Amino acid sequence: MSIRTTLAKLKRPSATYSLGALLLVGVGVGTLGVPAFTYVVHETSTDAFCLTCHSGDIGLEMEGRVHYDNASGLRVSCYECHLPRAFWPKVFAKTKSGVKDVYHTVLGTISTPEKFEAHRMHMAMVTWEAMNANDSRECRYCHDEGAWELARQSEKARKFHAPALARGKTCIDCHKGIAHELPRGIGEDHQIEGLDY
Ligand code: HEC
Ligand code: HEC
Ligand code: HEC
Ligand code: HEC
Repeated sequence: MSIRTTLAKLKRPSATYSLGALLLVGVGVGTLGVPAFTYVVHETSTDAFCLTCHSGDIGLEMEGRVHYDNASGLRVSCYECHLPRAFWPKVFAKTKSGVKDVYHTVLGTISTPEKFEAHRMHMAMVTWEAMNANDSRECRYCHDEGAWELARQSEKARKFHAPALARGKTCIDCHKGIAHELPRGIGEDHQIEGLDY
């Protein structure tokens, strides 16, 4: 069959299958496709998934820190600080970081602890910039500034959370290094705004 006749055939409505049957197949694929897609999005958001690549570095650092080990037994997952909650923004963020992560895994950008440390400042900056741009959205999913009882906070926290000081600032301005080790060199020269409170 020539290409021309094949093309002509494809353009014509199907002679073998009725429109109804084709629609049914479409709906079937759609019905199965949506849960399958949701499943993939969910499975690639678990700590176990993130740790397939990040266990040697980040994973170890969570232990002993407040979002992982605390009296209440509450463990904050990677995605809870690193991904938006709404479905489509989440899918978009995952696709973007997925492409980047796989590319850099192939390159071996963070394949040894030394390489990870060398790349850490860059990764931290990217993360801070994103959190700054979205006003620490992920922190605010759990910490509602509007529900703060300043009177019950520590004296230091109260002082810094007072509206006058916190105005125009966002959580990540002052709370860098809340979940992981800070990149080497930071804190020594106080170049990053907010660290020297
Ligand atoms: C296939 C391996 C792999 C998986 C799985 C993976 N990462 Fe990464 N990740 C990397 C690599 C490699 C980099 C460094 C790439 C870069 O700097 O762009 C990175 C960088 C990052 C960064 C630094 C900021 C940035 O965007 O570069 C964050 C945050 C991060 N990953 C979080 C996560 C979270 C959360 C998960 C689970 C939802 C995850 N990663 C799953 C390999 C992976
Ligand atoms: C999934 C919910 C959740 C998210 C997301 C989250 N936190 Fe928390 N955070 C908690 C809980 C729960 C505690 C208190 C744990 C305890 O002490 O029982 C806490 C404690 C803290 C503390 C107190 C530290 C201490 O030593 O007492 C700070 C500061 C903090 N979070 C900042 C942040 C920042 C900044 C972000 C965003 C980068 C963030 N949190 C994201 C749930 C969350
Ligand atoms: C202007 C700087 C600043 C900003 C902005 C800021 N914090 Fe804090 N926060 C502090 C300081 C300083 C402490 C006390 C830390 C200490 O005691 O070591 C603190 C303490 C905390 C604590 C522990 C409360 C307690 O009683 O000790 C939590 C939880 C917290 N911050 C969450 C947040 C969240 C969430 C945001 C964003 C909505 C935020 N902070 C914005 C400076 C700030
Ligand atoms: C409580 C919020 C929180 C949780 C939970 C969290 N992160 Fe992060 N992560 C951050 C913040 C904030 C940064 C920016 C650097 C900093 O301040 O330490 C960051 C930075 C990173 C980086 C860049 C390297 C670096 O150290 O800066 C990677 C990779 C990363 N996170 C992966 C993960 C993985 C994997 C998990 C789960 C095992 C996880 N994160 C859990 C808040 C969190």
